[in-house]
Amino acid sequence: MSTHDDDVLFQPLQAGAFQMPHRILMSPLTRARATDRIPNDLMAEYYTQRASAALIISEATAISPQGFGWHGAPAIYSDDQVAGWRKVTDAVHNAGGRMVVQLWHMGRVSHPDYQDGKLPVGPSPILAAGEAHTPTGKKPYVVPHELTKPEIRKIVEDYATATRRARDAGFDGVEIHGANGYLIDEFLRDGSNQRTDEYGGSKENRTRFLLEVIEAVTDAWSADRTGLRISPTMNGTGMFDSDPISLFRYVAEVLNPLGLAYLHVAESIRPGRIYNPDAPRVTPEIRKLYDGVFIANGGYDRDTAIACLERGEADAIAFGQKFIANPDLPQRLMQDASLNEPNPDTYYSPGPVGYTDYPALESAV
Ligand SMILES: Cc1cc2nc3c(=O)[nH]c(=O)nc-3n(C[C@H](O)[C@H](O)[C@H](O)COP(=O)(O)O)c2cc1C
Repeated sequence: MSTHDDDVLFQPLQAGAFQMPHRILMSPLTRARATDRIPNDLMAEYYTQRASAALIISEATAISPQGFGWHGAPAIYSDDQVAGWRKVTDAVHNAGGRMVVQLWHMGRVSHPDYQDGKLPVGPSPILAAGEAHTPTGKKPYVVPHELTKPEIRKIVEDYATATRRARDAGFDGVEIHGANGYLIDEFLRDGSNQRTDEYGGSKENRTRFLLEVIEAVTDAWSADRTGLRISPTMNGTGMFDSDPISLFRYVAEVLNPLGLAYLHVAESIRPGRIYNPDAPRVTPEIRKLYDGVFIANGGYDRDTAIACLERGEADAIAFGQKFIANPDLPQRLMQDASLNEPNPDTYYSPGPVGYTDYPALESAV
């Protein structure tokens, strides 16, 4: 029998402009089902099935052709893409849900196949570890083009444009993807940023691009509709930082006056495939310093989520893989019901199998 105060997960939470009926968010999950980068009816069905989430954070969504780099992923830079998203957000709202779009620029881990043969871009010409998901299968990453200052300014403008398009597309807000080895994270961490100008070197300089993006996005819409995701110790694609605790302490402090809707930190509580099991967890350090709504993610289940909130280590929890397999996850967690198991083979495969066919509780056997 549980000795926890189970209710903590099911209390309402106001995060900026987002009124959440409980504290179980849907983590951003790339599922690669878009049609030529345009959201479609199948995606609308998938997200609508998950409308009972406190907040749906969409799969990562490219802000520009330059920011794109994952076959089957959606984007938000064209009118057709906005129209496709509008169908998704209308359906989610009709089902009583709330949804933000995760704004994505992949930086150095895009591929020339997506860039008309040109190099992908990054803060420094440093090769990422691993392979890109191209239309013709996985291919090794390439050394990126080092962004010039005018090119950086253009990308910041692209974030503002994408934010305005997100509003047009009917989203409730945006989440800036500052995690997982993509462009913003590449600027933040010194393993991928060895610039000698004002965007590199000190932690203050490496945080400059993030702050410029936040300013552009919040000016284009509003801070209380803007969340930020970071992943201080994620070590995929060769990401690392020589001193993540001092870097992300600094990030937490400079975020405080900005009044964002929430800060979302992805860092597994368990040793995992993606996150470095040897690094000390940075999440508690950030939580201590950050004044706003704090969302934790990474390996949580019902018990560990409740324990985390009880101890005051976060205000809410984002669930990833459990939401893939359980469209009605909040109800299941509320009732302490059994969960469907996700099938990793269908995470990125086309079509409805392993996407919209996980049963809800009523129809589960
Ligand atoms: C299939 C899959 C796709 C993912 N796509 C994204 C994404 O688009 N954006 C992002 O920030 N994280 C992404 N992640 C990471 C998840 O949001 C989450 O941080 C991770 O799964 C750990 O949480 P969990 O243990 O609750 O699943 C993805 C993870 C998986 C398994």
